[in-house]
Amino acid sequence: MQHIDEARLEKDLDYRFQYLCEFIGFGESDIHTILNSAPLLAGAVPGLVEAVYVKLHGYDATWRHFAKVQSGYAGAFVVDGATPNFKSDVIGFRREKLTKYLVRLVTGPYDGKMVQYLNFVGAMHTSKAGSKEIEVPLVQMNVLMGFVADAMTATIFTFDILPEDKLSALRAFGKLLWIQNDLINRHYQA
Ligand code: HEM
Repeated sequence: MQHIDEARLEKDLDYRFQYLCEFIGFGESDIHTILNSAPLLAGAVPGLVEAVYVKLHGYDATWRHFAKVQSGYAGAFVVDGATPNFKSDVIGFRREKLTKYLVRLVTGPYDGKMVQYLNFVGAMHTSKAGSKEIEVPLVQMNVLMGFVADAMTATIFTFDILPEDKLSALRAFGKLLWIQNDLINRHYQA
């Protein structure tokens, strides 16, 4: 039996990431599979981003979070009623950020900076981890993760590759999303 320093899991991000990878069984071959699927997934990213924003626009409980000034967005913030228009520049800006996130997931590199980025993406959605601008309740993070995971599965299923490579890709992305899920959820602890 291995000893895990539980207090360290909470304060040392690299140690936590290593533990997540080891426990879930996310390793070099998964990273290799993910990087290899970049050319196949690249074409699917715009559709995936579109589907996410259509989904987020479908509920007031999710769309309301886009009614605030967005960090890093320097353009005019035009709001249509209480919320930004689906086609507004600010939403275009947000879509670009999500595009960059997905592209980074499939292009790597999987180094310490990537771990910090995955952790930052979780932290920035909650004031519990110091985000000043937004407070997205955990339920919304979870439902969107579920939606993204399912969309990934459906996309990978369409790849014209050997069945065993398809299974490897499904497993690699599944594991990665569970790791991201932990790096979201950890910031919501009281
Ligand atoms: C699957 C889970 C999610 C992922 C992977 C994700 C990813 C991201 C990324 C990559 C950014 C930009 C980070 C940067 O500035 O570089 C971001 C920002 C943002 N996300 Fe999410 N997001 C998720 C869930 C949600 C949900 C459910 C909502 C709303 C209901 C939301 C609302 C926002 C908002 C409003 C910002 C802008 C924050 C700001 O500019 O201050 N996100 N998200």
